[in-house]
Amino acid sequence: MTKSSQPMLEIRQVSKQFSGVSAVKDVNLSINKGEIFALLGGSGCGKTTLLRMLAGFETPSAGAIFIDGEDISEVPPHRRPVNMMFQSYALFPHMTVAQNVAFGLQQEKNRLSKPEIASKVAQLLGLVRMQDFASRRPEQLSGGQRQRVALARSLAKKPKVLLLDEPMGALDKKLRSQMQLEVVDIIEAVGVTCVMVTHDQEEAMTMADRISVMHEGEIMQVGTPNEIYEFPNSRHTAEFIGSVNIFDATVTQLEKDYSLLTCVDLNVPIQVEAGINAPIGASLGVAIRPEKITMSRQQPDQLVNWLMGVVEDIAYLGGHSVYYVKLTSGKRVMAIGTNNDRHEQKVTWKDTVYLHWSNTGAVVIYQ
Ligand SMILES: Nc1ncnc2c1ncn2[C@@H]1O[C@H](COP(=O)(O)OP(=O)(O)O)[C@@H](O)[C@H]1O
Ligand SMILES: [Mg+2]
Repeated sequence: MTKSSQPMLEIRQVSKQFSGVSAVKDVNLSINKGEIFALLGGSGCGKTTLLRMLAGFETPSAGAIFIDGEDISEVPPHRRPVNMMFQSYALFPHMTVAQNVAFGLQQEKNRLSKPEIASKVAQLLGLVRMQDFASRRPEQLSGGQRQRVALARSLAKKPKVLLLDEPMGALDKKLRSQMQLEVVDIIEAVGVTCVMVTHDQEEAMTMADRISVMHEGEIMQVGTPNEIYEFPNSRHTAEFIGSVNIFDATVTQLEKDYSLLTCVDLNVPIQVEAGINAPIGASLGVAIRPEKITMSRQQPDQLVNWLMGVVEDIAYLGGHSVYYVKLTSGKRVMAIGTNNDRHEQKVTWKDTVYLHWSNTGAVVIYQ
């Protein structure tokens, strides 16, 4: 789906220190109307702190936040056009589903009439497919149902920006992947701009239009799931998103159609796409995802981009297998083979194999 490219949320040079700890460092982000944007990173990298500053629960030590063009830095949480759904969902246990969803609407200064609130609640429960559960209490619901009620409640006041902190955190694995798509459908049906926090890269890639990878309070890279996976700009991002082999290499030749690198772990040169941003003699990293590598028993007839090694470990995962191949240098390389023929004679432990890939299979990383 194409979404608007008009900014809804602008984060400008925002930092946050807690008594000596730099939790968020000089973050700049522009998030578009209707976009689902994920803050992704390991535990303690500052995701929740950034989200809490958007909600107004924390004050930035420096910088400014704009929503729909308005500087909200001085606006208290309850007056910001945002709503946050917490990991625990924080539903009121003594209230029914309908009362939970109606609660925020009843607290408003210029509140709607009773029938108007009732009709709005019915509409919201319809949206999250909970209309048949209106008179249940939270304890009588499954985890996924509770999440849908919490979502309906956070959408009731029509926030401009919906904030989700680890939205699937309370659900088990199977339910998670089902709810990920369901929550995206609901958010897109409403058209609300959404910022979500997660440490789970699969979740970010499934749900978000764009992802920002965070590390130690800083934004490392911003891009679509595809850009972040195929064109990581740093070792950290390459390793954090999916699996990857990284070789240390030196630039040896720069041609119009390709660039050539040497690598201590390999007997043949690595050839990558032309136009790399480093001079001859520079040291850099070459990242190759395991699914970009083809495995064979015969030596390939190409002069570049292959290596020989011995199969050390195999993880059979049904649809595909992951092979760990040890090179003479001692380095281990990971390759993925899809299992599309039941009778195929499989490569097994201790087999000598050749791994090869094309120019476009490898990506150069500079930091
Ligand atoms: N209220 C606080 N007081 C002091 N340090 C905090 C506070 N909140 C968070 N931190 C610290 O800031 C860093 C980032 O935390 P957080 O934003 O919760 O990370 P994440 O959500 O990515 O796991 C951590 O080092 C954490 O210990
Ligand atoms: Mg957190």
